[in-house]
Amino acid sequence: MAAAPFIEAAFGRPSTHTPVWFMRQAGRSLPEYRALRGNGSILDAIKQPDLAAELTLQPVRRYGVDAAVLFSDIVVPAHAVGFGIDVAPGTGPMCTQPLRTAADLARLRPFDAEADAPYVAETVRQLAGELPAEVPLLAFAGAPFTVASYLIEGRPSKTYVNTKRMMHTDPKLWNAVMERLVQHAVESISSQLRNGARAFQLFDSWAGALSAADYQSLVQPHSTAVFSALRAAFPDVPGIHFGVGCDHLLEHMHAAGPAVLGLDWRTPIAQARRRMGDGLVVQGNLDPALVLAGTDTALAGTRAVLADNANPNGSKHPGHVFNLGHGVQPEADPDVLAAVVRLVHEATAA
Ligand code: CP3
Repeated sequence: MAAAPFIEAAFGRPSTHTPVWFMRQAGRSLPEYRALRGNGSILDAIKQPDLAAELTLQPVRRYGVDAAVLFSDIVVPAHAVGFGIDVAPGTGPMCTQPLRTAADLARLRPFDAEADAPYVAETVRQLAGELPAEVPLLAFAGAPFTVASYLIEGRPSKTYVNTKRMMHTDPKLWNAVMERLVQHAVESISSQLRNGARAFQLFDSWAGALSAADYQSLVQPHSTAVFSALRAAFPDVPGIHFGVGCDHLLEHMHAAGPAVLGLDWRTPIAQARRRMGDGLVVQGNLDPALVLAGTDTALAGTRAVLADNANPNGSKHPGHVFNLGHGVQPEADPDVLAAVVRLVHEATAA
């Protein structure tokens, strides 16, 4: 398999240019996505391999990004085992009956990727056959905490009251839920990797809602279990760990064992390396709001991120995967994102 800039950078090795991809690069910001996607639940689109593969490829073609990210969602395993969760357009994941008791946990049975969600494996196989060698397919799953927060709250939440209540009043049930979700994440990512994905990201998007102490005792061991299992089974596959508003947790998320630490826009790259070592490989971290502020502002922000990644001698640090600090907003102008990709490629060309 030819060297891909994404894989080289993810292991901190020099590459021909700084690789770039965008979280949520597939989605409503693209007119070709809106034309093809239709109205139903995103979970129904994910069940159609031809459609899901095409939606994955749209941003690769348009932007020339250095990675494709599987068109799927973090709630797919819970949905596929019949827990009773769907994604409401414009709102997010919703459960018919949230997870509050041990009896509810019984509805969240272990996940068997090829039997419960054969359509995902089929989509991955199609993509692995179509993508050029220098554009790897990224597998992903939701981290145990972020998926648990949706299952327990039953809907998107700002306060996570029910989740935190379970963490603090019934740690036995909490840890059992987390162990089940470790199995889901490991099984989901393993299956994507077996079928042709070449790197993965574990999304702990909402872990920033936790104190460092709670994260360390009640979440970190479970995220560590995911990275340990995947590193043992796929030692040559780099993993990324990402969350939003997690500056106070970065050392702990790094300790969970990813090859690459995702940063949102709040944490300067140079500061992360001062804290966790100059060898730290990072992903990020242009503020997605700057993409909405027009091309000039977005490109100035892009230059600032590249400068933040520079070595003391001004050369680029090899351990950088360029991305936004969170997902592309539906209102984003694809032409602005295309200009960002061109600038990253041109400014960092070896
Ligand atoms: O391009 C990509 O990043 C790949 C595909 C992808 C989707 N969801 C497709 C999607 C990925 C990696 C995800 C992960 C995901 N899903 C996360 C973690 C990433 C993050 O944003 O922090 C989370 C929290 C979810 C849960 C979820 N799914 C939410 C909150 C929403 C938005 C609801 C809405 O309609 O506004 C979704 C739906 C979703 N997942 C869309 C897409 C492209 C939106 C549109 C659609 O229904 O077509």
